[in-house]
Amino acid sequence: FTLRKIILDCGRGKSWYIISVLLLDFTGAFSEPVRVTVKGFVGESAVFPCSIPDSEIQGKIEKFNVHWRDNEDKLVCDIIASNRTCTDQDPKYKFRVETFPDEYKKGNFSIKLSSLQKTDARKYICHITGPSQNHTITELHVEDRPGGRGNHGRLNGELLSIVYFLVIFFLAGILIFMFVAVTFCVARMVFRY
Ligand SMILES: *[C@@H]1O[C@H](CO)[C@@H](O)[C@H](O)[C@H]1NC(C)=O
Ligand SMILES: *[C@@H]1O[C@H](CO)[C@@H](O)[C@H](O)[C@H]1NC(C)=O
Ligand SMILES: *[C@@H]1O[C@H](CO)[C@@H](O)[C@H](O)[C@H]1NC(C)=O
Repeated sequence: FTLRKIILDCGRGKSWYIISVLLLDFTGAFSEPVRVTVKGFVGESAVFPCSIPDSEIQGKIEKFNVHWRDNEDKLVCDIIASNRTCTDQDPKYKFRVETFPDEYKKGNFSIKLSSLQKTDARKYICHITGPSQNHTITELHVEDRPGGRGNHGRLNGELLSIVYFLVIFFLAGILIFMFVAVTFCVARMVFRY
C-alpha cells in the first residue's frame, strides 16, 4: 500500500497543534482501520479526527452512532443519534472532551481533548457505526512546548552557571597548586643555599 503523509497546521487561538496524518490507503476492505498520529503539547489540546463522507450522512444522521474509546477500552465519549452521551465517561476525561455538534451533519465526529498531560499519550479509537462505517485509531504524542515559557531558558541559565562555577573552581585549583609548587620549589632553593 501507499503511505501518505499529510501535515495540517491548525492555528486556532493559542491551542494550535500539529496533526501528522499517516494514511494507509486500503483498497475496498473497510475493516482496515485508518491510523492517525496527532501531536499535542502539555497543557494544550488536540483534535482526534473521525468522519464519514458528507454525502453518506444526508438525512440519516439519527442512524449513526459514534464510540470513542482509549486503548484500555475506557469510555472517552459517545455520540448517539447526534446526541452526545458521555455518561459512564472515565473520570480522567471529565470536562476535557469537546465534540462539535455543528460538524455532525457534515459527517465529522472529531473530538477535542484539552489540558493534555504526558499520561494522555496513548491510542484513541473511534468507531462510527450505521449505514456507513469508520474505524480510526489516533495515536497521541504529548510533548513539552519547545522553548516553552521560561522553562528552557531557566534550565539553560542554571546549566550555564554550573559550568561557570566548575571552570572557576578548576582554575582556582590550578592556581593554588601552582602557588604551592612554586613556594615548595623556592623553599627548597632557599634551604639548599
Ligand atoms: C474515517 O475518518 C478519518 C478521519 O476523519 C478519515 O480520514 C477517513 O477518510 C474516514 N474513512 C472513511 C471510510 O470515511
Ligand atoms: C437526541 O436529541 C433530540 C433532540 O434533543 C431528541 O429528539 C432525540 O430523541 C434524541 N435521541 C436520542 C437517541 O437520545
Ligand atoms: C472536524 O471538526 C473539527 C473541529 O471543528 C475540525 O478541526 C476538523 O478540521 C474537521 N474535519 C473535517 C474533515 O472537516
